[in-house]
Amino acid sequence: MTEDRGSLAGRRVVVGVSGSIAAYKAVSLVRLLAERGAIVDVAMTPAATEFVTPLTFASLTHRRVVDDVMALDADSQIAHVELAEGADAIVIAPATANLLAELAAGNAGNAVTAIALASRAPLVVAPAMDAGMWTHPATQRNIETLRGFGHRVVEPEVGALASGLTGVGRLAEPDSIVEVVERLFARAGDLEGLQVVVSAGGTREPIDPVRFIGNRSSGKMGVAIAEAARDRGASVTLIAGVMSVPPPRGVSVVDASTAAAMRQAVLRSASGADVLVMAAAVADFAPKRASSSKIKRGGGDLQIDLVANPDIIAEVGEMADGTRPFLVGFAAESDELEANARSKLRDKGLDLIVGNKVGGPFDAIGSDENKVIVFGAEGELSDWPMLPKRQVAERLWDLIVDRYRKAHAPERPERPARSRRR
Ligand code: CTP
Repeated sequence: MTEDRGSLAGRRVVVGVSGSIAAYKAVSLVRLLAERGAIVDVAMTPAATEFVTPLTFASLTHRRVVDDVMALDADSQIAHVELAEGADAIVIAPATANLLAELAAGNAGNAVTAIALASRAPLVVAPAMDAGMWTHPATQRNIETLRGFGHRVVEPEVGALASGLTGVGRLAEPDSIVEVVERLFARAGDLEGLQVVVSAGGTREPIDPVRFIGNRSSGKMGVAIAEAARDRGASVTLIAGVMSVPPPRGVSVVDASTAAAMRQAVLRSASGADVLVMAAAVADFAPKRASSSKIKRGGGDLQIDLVANPDIIAEVGEMADGTRPFLVGFAAESDELEANARSKLRDKGLDLIVGNKVGGPFDAIGSDENKVIVFGAEGELSDWPMLPKRQVAERLWDLIVDRYRKAHAPERPERPARSRRR
C-alpha cells in the first residue's frame, strides 16, 4: 500500500485573495496547504495586492501569481481559465463583502471572480469584514446565494476588527479553513449512516479538590479516529476525557473526566451506536473517597485506599447481540504485547484490539505518530509501520468497515432479518 500524505497531497488548490487587512492570513493559509502536499496557485484581486505583494505568494508556492484577469500564462493561454480548469478546489480567503456580492452576482471582473465563475471545482469562501457589513441583510443574502450554489462558507469569527471594534467578521483561522478544504477531499463516505462513538484522552480520579490520579494520555489517537470517522461520513460522538488537543469540529462532544463519568457516557451512547472505539486511557483504580477539602501535609506519610474502577468496554462487550456495537479496544502494553492484547480481546468481548507498546524507546503517548499491531479473534491482522496517527486512524477504519460490513451483510432469507442501523 502506498503512503499518502493526507487528503491534500497532490491536489491542485487555487487560493483567491481579495482586498482586506486579513490578506496577511492568506500567507499562512497558503503555507499550510503547501505543507500538506497541495499544489497551490494564488490569484489576487487588484486591491489584495495593496495588502500583500504577489511576490510573497510566489516565493511560497514557487508558482506565478495571477493578479490580472487579462494575463496570459507561459503558453499564451488565458491564465485564469487554465487555473479554473485545473483546480481541484478553490478557496477564497479573505473574501470581502464586495467580493461576496460579485460572486453572488456572477461577475468576473478580476482574476479571483473570473476563476470562480469559470471553474466547476468545489469552492470555499472565508469572509472577513466589519461586523456591520457581515450582518447586513445584503451580505447575508449573498451568503445564502453562495450556499445555494453549493459553495461552502467558513463563517467569520468574533474578535477585534480592523475598525477597532470587537464583533463578528474576523477571518477564520487558517487551520480551520484548511480543515474545511481537507474535508472536501475526504474519502467518500464509507461510514455514511453509521453512529460511531469514540472515547479519547485520560481520566482523572480525584483525591481531593486539587489532586488526582491520572495518566499521560493526550487524546491525539482518539481524536484522529473521531476525525477520520467524521470525514468518512459517520455521525460521531466523542467522549472526551482529559485531552491536550481540542476536540474536532463537527462531532458531538461529551466531557467525561473521571472513569465513572466516562462509564455513564459510554453506556448511554453505546446502545444506539454501530461502532464503539475505546481509545481512552481509563484509570483502573480510583481513591475510595475523594476528600472534599484539601489534604494537609500533616507530618507523616499518607495512605490512599484505591478501589477498582469498572471495566467499561467489558461491560459493553456483555450487551446482548443485536444491541452491542462493533467493539474496538486498545491495549497499551510495556511487555508481551501480543499475549496481553489477545487476552484483552477475548476477556472483554471485543471485535478488534489495537496494540501498541508503551514505555520503550518510542512512546506513543503524546506523540503525533504511532506504531500499532491490530488483532482480531483469528490472530494478528496487521502490523503497520510507524505512521502519523491520522493514517493509523484511516487504516483502522478500513479494517473496521470491512469487518463491520461482513458481519452485517444481508442475512440468508430463511432467517428473519434483524434490523441494524447501517
Ligand atoms: N478500558 C475500559 N475501562 C477500564 C479500563 C480500560 O473500558 N476501566 C478499555 C480501554 O479504553 C482500552 C481497553 O479497555 O480500550 C484496554 O485498556 P488497558 O488499559 O490497556 O487495559 P486494562 O484492562 O486496564 O488492563 P491493564 O491496565 O491491566 O493492562
